[in-house]
Amino acid sequence: MCRIDLAALRHNLAAIRRAIGPGVAVCGVVKADAYGHGAIPVARALAAEGIEHLAVASVDEAAELRHAGIDVPILVFGSVRPDRVREAVRLRLAVTVWSAAAARALADALDPAAPLDVHVKVDTGMHRIGALAGDLSALADVLRAGPFRIAGTMSHLACADQPGHASVPAQIEAFESALRALSSLGVAPGVRHLANSAGAVAWPAARYDMVRPGIALYGGAPSPQLAGRLDLRPVMHLQTRVLQLKTIPAGDRVGYGHTYAATRPTRLAVLPVGYAIGYPRALSNRADVLIRGHRAPVAGTISMDHVTVDVTDVPGAAEGDVVTLWGSDGTQHLDVMELGARAGTIGYELLTCVSPRTPRIYDDD
Ligand SMILES: Cc1ncc(COP(=O)(O)O)c(C=O)c1O
Repeated sequence: MCRIDLAALRHNLAAIRRAIGPGVAVCGVVKADAYGHGAIPVARALAAEGIEHLAVASVDEAAELRHAGIDVPILVFGSVRPDRVREAVRLRLAVTVWSAAAARALADALDPAAPLDVHVKVDTGMHRIGALAGDLSALADVLRAGPFRIAGTMSHLACADQPGHASVPAQIEAFESALRALSSLGVAPGVRHLANSAGAVAWPAARYDMVRPGIALYGGAPSPQLAGRLDLRPVMHLQTRVLQLKTIPAGDRVGYGHTYAATRPTRLAVLPVGYAIGYPRALSNRADVLIRGHRAPVAGTISMDHVTVDVTDVPGAAEGDVVTLWGSDGTQHLDVMELGARAGTIGYELLTCVSPRTPRIYDDD
C-alpha cells in the first residue's frame, strides 16, 4: 500500500511559498495522477491551502478534477484536440498553445461567443514543445483573431536542477526576448511563468509571476545538488508487510538467476511486492528497505510479485511486520529520489509508476 501524508504535502507547499516569497503564485503540478499520489485528494488538499493554480497533462485529467468539485484555475500542459476544445471552455480550463496551425484548428472548433483561455508556450532552448522566436508572429496573428483570451505566457527550463548551469540565464534571456516580441505583436503576456521546482528554488530570476512545482510538493529534491535547499518531507510512503521468514545456510543462493549468495546463515524475509506494482527490478541487490527501524538489503532479483530481503541484522523481525520500501518509518527515511538514481532512472519515474491497483491510504493529520 501507499501511505500518502497530506500534512507533508501542506508542509512542502508552505516551504515552497517561504522560498519564493510573497507576490509569486504557485501552480501545483498534479499531472500523472499527482505523480502517483492521487490527483483528487492532492488537488483538494492544495486547493484548501489556497493554491492559486493547478496543472495537468490532458483534458481528461482536468475533467476528473472538475468533476470532483475542484474549482481552482487549471492549465492543461499537453495538446488538446479540436473536438475537445468546447469541453475545455465549459470546464473553465486554460490550454497551452505553441503553433499557429494548432491554434487555428482550435479557433475553428470554438464557439466565437465563448473564448478559450490559453497560455502561450515559447521554446527558449528546451526544444520540447513551444514556439520558436521565428514562429511567434504567425502565432500572434491567430491569437489576436480569436476567440482566445491570453491568460499566460510560459516556457520550461532544461537544466534548472544544475546550479550555475549556463543554459538557465540564456533561457531567461530568451523568455524576456519572447515577451518583448509578443508585446510588440499586440499580445499581452498574462501570467508569466517559467520555473519548475528546481527553477523556483535555485533561480530567483526565473520565478516571474508564478512557479510550477511538481516534485518539490511531493517532497523530492529535484537533484542531489539541491537537496537540503528546502525543508521537504516525503509525501508517499510505499509499504508492505513481511509475508514469510526463513533462515538459509551460508553458501545458498537466492531468487531468479541465484544472483544473491548468502555469506553467513541468513534470515530472509519475503515481501509480497515486485516490479508489477512499481518496485523496479533494477533495484535488485541495490536497495535497502526499512523494518523495525533498521535497514535491510534487498537480497536477489526482484520478481514480478515478490522481493526477498536480508533481515539477519533486524532483531525480532517477524511475519506481518510493516516494511517501508521508500518514505519514512519513524525516524528512518529512504529517499525515493536516491532509489531512482540507484535504479538508473529518476525518483519521478518510481513515484509515477506505482501501480494504480496499489491502495493509496490518506493520512491527514
Ligand atoms: C511544463 C512543466 N512545468 C513544471 C513541471 C514540474 O516539474 P518538477 O516536478 O520538476 O517541479 C513539469 C513536469 O514535468 C512540466 O512539464
